[in-house]
Amino acid sequence: MRHNNNLLVGFLTIGLLAAILVGSGCSKSETGDQTKTGAEKKAKSSYTIGMSQCNLGEPWRVEMNAQVKAAAEKHPNLKVVFKDAQNDTLKQRSHVEEFVSAGVDLIIISPKEAQPLTEPVAKAMEAGIPVIVLDRRLLGDKFTCFIGADNKKIGRAAGDWIAQKLAQKTKPGEKAKVVELKGLMTSTPGQDRNSGFRDAIAGKDIDIIFEADMKWLEPDARKEMESALSRFNKIDCVYAHNDPGAHGAYLAAKAAGREKEMMFVGIDALPQEGVGYVQQGVLDATFQYPTGGAEAIDTALKIVKGESVPKEITLGSRVFDKDNVGQGGKEMK
Ligand code: FRU
Repeated sequence: MRHNNNLLVGFLTIGLLAAILVGSGCSKSETGDQTKTGAEKKAKSSYTIGMSQCNLGEPWRVEMNAQVKAAAEKHPNLKVVFKDAQNDTLKQRSHVEEFVSAGVDLIIISPKEAQPLTEPVAKAMEAGIPVIVLDRRLLGDKFTCFIGADNKKIGRAAGDWIAQKLAQKTKPGEKAKVVELKGLMTSTPGQDRNSGFRDAIAGKDIDIIFEADMKWLEPDARKEMESALSRFNKIDCVYAHNDPGAHGAYLAAKAAGREKEMMFVGIDALPQEGVGYVQQGVLDATFQYPTGGAEAIDTALKIVKGESVPKEITLGSRVFDKDNVGQGGKEMK
């Protein structure tokens, strides 16, 4: 009898240990061990990607979608379903939810704003759908991979470029007068292009005499610039967080006959937009902000096949000004 009891205790202990081991293995793959989760996926003959774009009102976003489409067309096993939220955060939230209900294999999102899009993306991840975040960031780390250029670095480079040019124009003891037209400040590129710029000009002979949120939109930038022009009779430079903003400011200054008084600097450097403006002498400089469309498709393919990918992919940038635009710009260090 005693012998039997010992045997029973032995079996129970082994059983308990086994249960603990199996249990801990499960929770590991659930907490997002990407390679393991991917390897558990069965290979499929085709994959559907849901692409949630925050708006298609600006050329830069049209270009992003075109790059996603062109890259995906090289892979006959990939189908991309595009949704355009028309700059409406609530609509974009629903689009993510719709992709989850439809059971797509992966979601690519270029979110309008960080905070409100964080939750639906986290829910998609909980439902087992990997998510690539492109260009603007979300809060926290509940996504598979973020792809975008370093906006703080771009803001800093713009600040250094502007400070250097203004130093050549400003008399000793004088401060240069700068207008900053910001991108949507509830989106991370707006925040980073602002803080990087401010870091770079700190301690320099520069006064920010006027700042406004133009929400990335050319008509808003034009309106804000009209008020800056009416309030200040001398402006040395406009720093806008994107090229449509810089162009809107230029149009306002030109309408007031004051466009020669100041420099205009923007960000994006699309060949047919910002780079063209530099060639025409409309903008003094633009900093490239790559859309990451092709990189998103390369990364998506790896994820759906179960390969591991980095949590963050940082894209490079170039500066275009009148001295280098003929040579295709210069790499931003
Ligand atoms: C387009 C855009 C670009 C800008 C990017 C920042 O919507 O405003 O001009 O570089 O978004 O997210």
